[in-house]
Amino acid sequence: MKRTAQTHHPIHTLLKDRWSPRAFSDKPVEPEKLLAVLEAARWAASAMNEQPWRFIIATKKNPAEFEQALSCLNEGNQRWAKDAPVLIFTIVKKTFTRNDRPNRAALHDLGLAVANLTLQATELGLHVHEMGGIQIDKIRETYQIPEDYEVVTGIALGYYGDIEQLPEDLQEREKGPRQRKPLSELIFTGTWAKPASFVKNNGT
Ligand SMILES: Cc1cc2nc3c(=O)[nH]c(=O)nc-3n(C[C@H](O)[C@H](O)[C@H](O)COP(=O)(O)O)c2cc1C
Repeated sequence: MKRTAQTHHPIHTLLKDRWSPRAFSDKPVEPEKLLAVLEAARWAASAMNEQPWRFIIATKKNPAEFEQALSCLNEGNQRWAKDAPVLIFTIVKKTFTRNDRPNRAALHDLGLAVANLTLQATELGLHVHEMGGIQIDKIRETYQIPEDYEVVTGIALGYYGDIEQLPEDLQEREKGPRQRKPLSELIFTGTWAKPASFVKNNGT
């Protein structure tokens, strides 16, 4: 299903076409495509080239590992993420390896890596749905995450399925309008909350 963003200004097709579905097909993700999306993440920029991101992957190829990962999501996310063929947990290293100082950019850099992963997935006809709704303590324990690492999000990855496979309430959310704040609420100049002059009065 296409849910192309209606943008106010022209942007890349991959950015317009990316969206976060809940109806995933059970079609497996080809190993070379999975590797390509992870390779895309690998090439993100990062402060001091620390590459603080780590990813734990579970695919339906290994049902026990998949069930283990699924059980680490919140129940609301398990309802639909059970259909995705790949689940991923994102983790960051909180300190710089070179000097053990806190890495203030770690979460930022993970976000860059996930953006890379997401756009590569979109290019390959795949969809990504990120999840903050995960059981952090359970993930830490299940996967023996070391102290210096922070568990951040879950990701469901796969091909789009059929909206009819979803419970009715989730079907409605899948069809709802795609909304974003206007640029005028986001882009300031001179002082806080003063919209930049090149942003039009209607927020675009
Ligand atoms: C960090 C993060 C956490 C999210 N957590 C959840 C979640 O737990 N469950 C869910 O259904 N969607 C979750 N989402 C998806 C957002 O709701 C979705 O990206 C947003 O509504 C915009 O829709 P779009 O991605 O289709 O453009 C999350 C997205 C991000 C980036």
